[in-house]
Amino acid sequence: SADQKLIRESWQKVGVSPLEHGIVLFTRLFDLDPDLLPLFQYNCKKFSTPQECLSSPEFLEHIRKVMVVIDAAVTHLENLHCLEEYLANLGKKHQAVGVKLESFEAVGDSLLYMLEKCHGPAFKLNVREAWTKLYSAVVKAMSCGWDV
Ligand code: HEM
Repeated sequence: SADQKLIRESWQKVGVSPLEHGIVLFTRLFDLDPDLLPLFQYNCKKFSTPQECLSSPEFLEHIRKVMVVIDAAVTHLENLHCLEEYLANLGKKHQAVGVKLESFEAVGDSLLYMLEKCHGPAFKLNVREAWTKLYSAVVKAMSCGWDV
């Protein structure tokens, strides 16, 4: 579909340097919601600043993991249900580390922010809307793993 074409085209540019773009995304996320910082702990050590977190190898690995999941969603655009089980399980893991479902809204805003930074004026409203739909589908699938 037209939406799928827009998403694939806009993701191509991100894919050239996923880590760099992921850093833009998470920098924005910590600006929007600094309370997410303490959820990232490696060897029980809390980061005292977003900068410290953003320069830790373990956190950069998490950024890579996030970008791989988005890449998988882009690859499976027309059959996202292939990823449903994986995403529900991923949701479960995030609930276990203390992430709240509501926090995924700020993640979505940060994703759009990153894409806008990457594409500039080429990031038109229709591209934004296509991404909003895809991201909502990913969050919906992840939320299936949440126990109430
Ligand atoms: C794992 C936090 C968003 C994908 C983790 C871990 C933490 C975490 C603490 C375990 C440690 C680690 O693997 O680094 C968060 C927080 C988020 C967030 C606070 C935002 C509120 C996301 C998003 C995705 C994602 C949006 C992908 C769409 C992953 C993956 C893993 C992971 C693939 C590894 C799971 C595994 O070990 O099987 N996350 N995460 N995360 N996260 Fe996130």
